Amino acid sequence: MTSGARLHGARWQAYDAAVDATSADRGGQLTTSAPPRHPLEPLSAEELRRAAQITREQRGLSERWRFASIELREPSKQALREAGERPVDDFPREANVVCFDRDHDDAVKAVVSLSEQRLVSWDPRPGEHPPISNDEYDECNSLLKREPRLVAALARRGITDMDLVIVDVWAFGGELVPEPYRGRRVGWADVWHRAGPECNPYANPVAGLHPIVDLATAEMLELGDDGDDQPAAEVMGEYAPALVPGMRLREDLRPLQITQPEGPSFTLDGHLLRWQRWSMRLGFNYREGLVIHTLGYEDGGRVRPIAHRLSFAEMVIPYRDPTPEHFRRTAFDIGEWGLGFMTTSLELGCDCLGEIAYLDAALHDSRGEPHTVKNAICIHEEDAGVLWKHVDERTGLDTRRMRRLVVSFHATVANYEYLIYWRFYQDGNIECEVRATGIMITTPFADGQPPFGTLVERRTYAPYHQHFIVARLDLDVDGEDNTVYAVDSEPLPLGADNPDGLALVQRLVPLRSEREGRQDFDWRAQRSWHVVNDGVCNGLGTKCAYRLVPGGAIPALLDPSSFVVRRAGAIQHTLWVTPYREDERWPCGDFPNLSTEDTGLMQWTAADRPIENTDVVLWYVFGIHHLPRPEEWPVMPVDTVSFWLKPVGFFDRNPALDVCPEPGHSR
Ligand code: CO
Repeated sequence: MTSGARLHGARWQAYDAAVDATSADRGGQLTTSAPPRHPLEPLSAEELRRAAQITREQRGLSERWRFASIELREPSKQALREAGERPVDDFPREANVVCFDRDHDDAVKAVVSLSEQRLVSWDPRPGEHPPISNDEYDECNSLLKREPRLVAALARRGITDMDLVIVDVWAFGGELVPEPYRGRRVGWADVWHRAGPECNPYANPVAGLHPIVDLATAEMLELGDDGDDQPAAEVMGEYAPALVPGMRLREDLRPLQITQPEGPSFTLDGHLLRWQRWSMRLGFNYREGLVIHTLGYEDGGRVRPIAHRLSFAEMVIPYRDPTPEHFRRTAFDIGEWGLGFMTTSLELGCDCLGEIAYLDAALHDSRGEPHTVKNAICIHEEDAGVLWKHVDERTGLDTRRMRRLVVSFHATVANYEYLIYWRFYQDGNIECEVRATGIMITTPFADGQPPFGTLVERRTYAPYHQHFIVARLDLDVDGEDNTVYAVDSEPLPLGADNPDGLALVQRLVPLRSEREGRQDFDWRAQRSWHVVNDGVCNGLGTKCAYRLVPGGAIPALLDPSSFVVRRAGAIQHTLWVTPYREDERWPCGDFPNLSTEDTGLMQWTAADRPIENTDVVLWYVFGIHHLPRPEEWPVMPVDTVSFWLKPVGFFDRNPALDVCPEPGHSR
């Protein structure tokens, strides 16, 4: 990401005022000048390299040590509050570093001061396993393809061209690791066979073959061959038009072009994004990918805070198929791998139309060497149909078209892709949408109907599975002290005052402690949640709030004793509310790789801390209950889920009355 020149002695207020002035001068054009570095700017490639170097030098680490993750250690909320008053140089640049010795594997959490060139802390975490790095994944792939036992097993199945073989390492759940390998940095793998050099890598599973590897020593521990009694099915799993027999592309689409001759209506200065009253800072790290910082909406000449920080903190994908092919298959795509590390460059097009702005992301490999993902974050503006409208017989038509600002990034996690969109609307609404696409895992089986999945091809099924996503929503509605209320709609019983049973009331129940903060979606009550600032009233005298409108809420459908629940307790509820703690970031624990128990939300909330009128964090659990369909083979059309955050009494009336009509559209 852009690293700006330092602005010595400047103050942030002055900086923000200058940004205001320059944005106005440019009439909404994008700026390319390097602004001074804000304390929330992600670490640059150079800073990532230095953080690794300082750690290596000051601890005298050998080449056997690897860096699982390096990210900005964000300044505390307290420090950021004072950012307006403090000189730039008062903010030390610090990095959170997770590293491990390949000979022992135990994680070490360290903090490095880049400003002072020194290691600040060194916290060994025995028995905990850092996430798997992309280079370990690649190493394992090439190692296994040279492994004679695997080559022989494939030859027995008639596969001899190793260039067409793909080995896909998955992380283990701790208790599923076979006894002799417990405590080691192990993974298990699927094996796939491409039908040809350009063919779909995930169309032809090699059934029964699941090698177990030690990622630290780069060796295959066990072949894991259940035999080849399940011969490969004859499938047509290709999606590239040239490879689909008889495919003729449709020819009846005419061009659709979006042009913005005067440029987009947003401004981007470094990582500061402003559009139609909205302002926010964009961040990025190895694990969450995109982070939305300090989100506010300008109202009456001042920016009112709405959220301090919004991100995705975990994904849990249990496959609901107990057969030998799939019982190990529970993925934590954020904690075991990292959405940031999996982020794909949008250089080749993100399929957004119009004037697009991009931000690059700096990441690193396990040796601490940085690299850049070009165009990691996409920012653009979209027309979104009608915003509001009325037709009056006397005055005619009054209508406003809606625009939305979209900030998005795409992650490819082996066979699957997640497309993540944060959308900001002129009426104060925020929409968070996830689209899942890519290629489903499939397995050949004997004729008939599969018990734990859907038939999608001849003798081939895709197992049932769930994608749980945990959004971490550090909302600060008009300030830090907020209370979350469960809001249920309740019909009143029939009675003298309610003879026809029409009476409907709204029940707002404050959530006072973490136990009460464990909330489930309730369709019968149309439950939503209000994040209320009890200390700030609107012009009507009611309290200012934002409503979390649930969408994509899915139940765990798992016995509490299941190892999936023990590792990912978060999936048991739709919403969790905790008091803000700087170090509580990962809802299923710091290191889900090889974990046996959840050291995140389950453990924190056991203390049942008070959450009333304080700085709260909401953990919203949503996702896709994926019962595959034949129409999702051989590549899935996007499956889309979303939730919304909507102002409720945050404004006194429709805040979008002042949106100007589009030329030629209305009076
Ligand atoms: Co799925």
